Amino acid sequence: MKTYKIALIKGDGIGPEIIDEAVKVLDSVASCYDFDFSYEEALMGGCAYDITGDPLPQETINISLNSDAVLFGAIGGTKWDNLPREKRPESGLLRFRKELGVYANLRPAVVYDELVNASSLKPEIVRGVDLMVVRELIGGIYFGEPKGRDENRGWNTMVYTRPEIERIAHQAFKIAMTRSKRVCSIDKANVLDVSQLWRDVVTEVAKEYPEVELSHMYVDNAAMQLIRDPKQFDVMLTGNIFGDILSDEASMLSGSIGLLPSASVGAKIGVYEPIHGSAPDIAGQGIANPIATIASASMMLRYALGEISAADKIDEAIKRALSEGYRTRDLAQFDAKEVCSTSEMGSIIANYVAKCKH
Ligand code: IPM
Ligand code: MG
Repeated sequence: MKTYKIALIKGDGIGPEIIDEAVKVLDSVASCYDFDFSYEEALMGGCAYDITGDPLPQETINISLNSDAVLFGAIGGTKWDNLPREKRPESGLLRFRKELGVYANLRPAVVYDELVNASSLKPEIVRGVDLMVVRELIGGIYFGEPKGRDENRGWNTMVYTRPEIERIAHQAFKIAMTRSKRVCSIDKANVLDVSQLWRDVVTEVAKEYPEVELSHMYVDNAAMQLIRDPKQFDVMLTGNIFGDILSDEASMLSGSIGLLPSASVGAKIGVYEPIHGSAPDIAGQGIANPIATIASASMMLRYALGEISAADKIDEAIKRALSEGYRTRDLAQFDAKEVCSTSEMGSIIANYVAKCKH
């Protein structure tokens, strides 16, 4: 029997609650297949700072690199907002991504039919949306030098090199080949030199994927088009900060940011995490929606471990829980038959997983 080593980084706020539910579902799926999981917990974020003085202890990097995949909850909270920048939970996360080399952040936005009424947009606009934001994750303005501030000036640098653009573009085109073969690359080439390089390099890489249709769009227009007619998009390829913003926007198409998973992948290892944050305001109340994290665990099975059938099983179980009318509080007003807690939702999905045949 194969045992997969999973690093669990629960983090802050609702992180521990939602990871516990994903583990419940993973153990349930393992019981149906010929594999098993062994978990090792590692600290990161505010909780790591409180215990070790560092939001990203070296041990966390070691444990992560030594596993088959990392399942990540969420980090941060107002409690740590006033720390010097390098001690803040967010800095730990950025360093973590860099150390692990996870340059490609895959953020699918899918609208579940059962929840078309939950979106702030009209049902006919969002029904059938199924897009994927492919965001560059370890370059751009988040990491560019020089950066700094003094009393009267603050500055950051948006820089991309040709190899950085090439590898994320390849990733986007490869993903497009498994979907509807369309890539829309998002930039601000009408203003930024870095974006013109981005556009030129993406256009070059596209020549290696003649079946994929490439289009380009300015980021301001893309933000508008995403809510005007989101179905026009399939793969949206973007740099770090534009992808950060557009993926939050895309998440609202689905009705709740509590539904959407993500994968951050690179040459070494992948990190699987919900796209939402640590929601300190609702932490510990048992009302967080664990679906984004459970769906992230499914992405982990699919992309990191190659357990496609097990991943499908989890995705089906999530859909079934929604179509039977189970809702956590964030979605309670949308066709709920029963409003359930974080752990009830986890158990419902875990039970469906254990029952369905493969
Ligand atoms: C995200 C988050 C992070 C980011 C923060 C917490 C550093 O917003 O994963 O989208 O900006 O990348
Ligand atoms: Mg973000």
